[in-house]
Amino acid sequence: MFSAKTYASRREVLRTKIGSGVILLPGNMPAPNNYPNNTYYFRQDSSFLYYFGLNIPSLVGVIDADTGEEMLFGDDFTVEDIIWTGPQPTLRELGAQVGIAAAHPMAELEKHLRKAIAQGRRIHYLPPYRGETKLQLSELLGIAPARLHEHKSVDLMLAVAEMREAKSAEEIDELERAFRIGYDMHTLAMKMCRPGVVEREIAGAIEGVAKSAGAGVSFPSIVSQHGETLHNLCADGVLEEGRLLLCDAGGETVGNYCSDHTRTYPVSGRFTPKQREIYEIVLAAHDRVAAIVKPGMMYTDIHNAACLTLAEGLVGAGLVRGSAEDAVAAGAMTLFMPHGLGHGLGMDVHDCEAMGERSFDFSSIADRAAESATCIYRAAWRVRPGTVMSDEPGIYFIPALIDKCRAEGLYRGIVDYDRLDSYRDFGGIRIEDDLLLTDTGCRIIGDRKIPVTVDELEAVVGK
Ligand code: GLY
Ligand code: MN
Ligand code: MN
Repeated sequence: MFSAKTYASRREVLRTKIGSGVILLPGNMPAPNNYPNNTYYFRQDSSFLYYFGLNIPSLVGVIDADTGEEMLFGDDFTVEDIIWTGPQPTLRELGAQVGIAAAHPMAELEKHLRKAIAQGRRIHYLPPYRGETKLQLSELLGIAPARLHEHKSVDLMLAVAEMREAKSAEEIDELERAFRIGYDMHTLAMKMCRPGVVEREIAGAIEGVAKSAGAGVSFPSIVSQHGETLHNLCADGVLEEGRLLLCDAGGETVGNYCSDHTRTYPVSGRFTPKQREIYEIVLAAHDRVAAIVKPGMMYTDIHNAACLTLAEGLVGAGLVRGSAEDAVAAGAMTLFMPHGLGHGLGMDVHDCEAMGERSFDFSSIADRAAESATCIYRAAWRVRPGTVMSDEPGIYFIPALIDKCRAEGLYRGIVDYDRLDSYRDFGGIRIEDDLLLTDTGCRIIGDRKIPVTVDELEAVVGK
């Protein structure tokens, strides 16, 4: 947690940006797993954390943009609660930790909001992504859960995304701490990797590192010899000589900042010439991005620069014919890398994604999204100092996708499908680091390097 001053000044900036109305920021509630008292590990909502800092369930923060009044709603723990949880601070004490004097019982929130609604004031809220929060907002605002998205505040979404996008020095320190957890996770995975080990043994061990060094994993770890399956959560495979292991994993600090790295390496500890050739292409794309990214660049240009490097390499490997530029222009790289180059990173491993991409139709606000320049809408994302983004190119040989493209006659004359046949059991390679935009360029987050070159990996895998 940062100082009360940090949260107070963030709220003040937000209030100024929004100008009028009531800003309603619900924190998360406990989410039951298989019965009410056995909940998933609690994860606070990142926007609530950003403005109210409290990693405690069932709180709601309110900022009156007209008057500047700030309120925390929640319920003090009863003796019945404390029997199970131990002594807890009061709501008033919690509020004081983050610079808020006004603490009210949750039952008063509905009255407060209903009064504001009756006065014709706008209630600004972000699109909810959890069932419990949808029901809470529905009750508070008198809007059916299915219609909540129609009334969400685009003004608030853009303002919050803009603020969360530009990381402060103290946030960057947190991201460096998250890197160190990721470093320990990945180097342990490399050491454990050898024939006969089960993928889940590695996944479990590195998730234990994340849990003991911080708040746990920033997303479920991907530890698989089927690296061609982008988010492969099945870790039942037994490591085999001759195959590649892809490990995409990250940790979260106690302050809830995330890391996200991927490394791919041979189970045997030695790349075959065929694996090495494809690996070097992906690494060249990764390194190219880290070398060219600077403030003011559009995300799409960064993505296309990575695709061009991949295409140049694939032409060299004989899998793509003609010029690399033509292959990229024809969209042929989507057969090899069917995902975007990267995403924002911060308190969410895909930062602000609860507000972006999948949460609404951007066609109506594309211009405003472009003006805001945040990762909320990647097609209009312009990176700037303080932006943190992942750099994660890959080459994947996905039999189902290859067959589909071939059957549909896509990229004919560009992709050498006959040659591609001998890669059907290759798997996939992804290499991922987290970049911080500086005033003039970017740097990879971290005070050391997770082994990444062929030589570096061969020196540590299975050792
Ligand atoms: N962890 C999924 C990703 O790299 O975006
Ligand atoms: Mn990742
Ligand atoms: Mn990522």
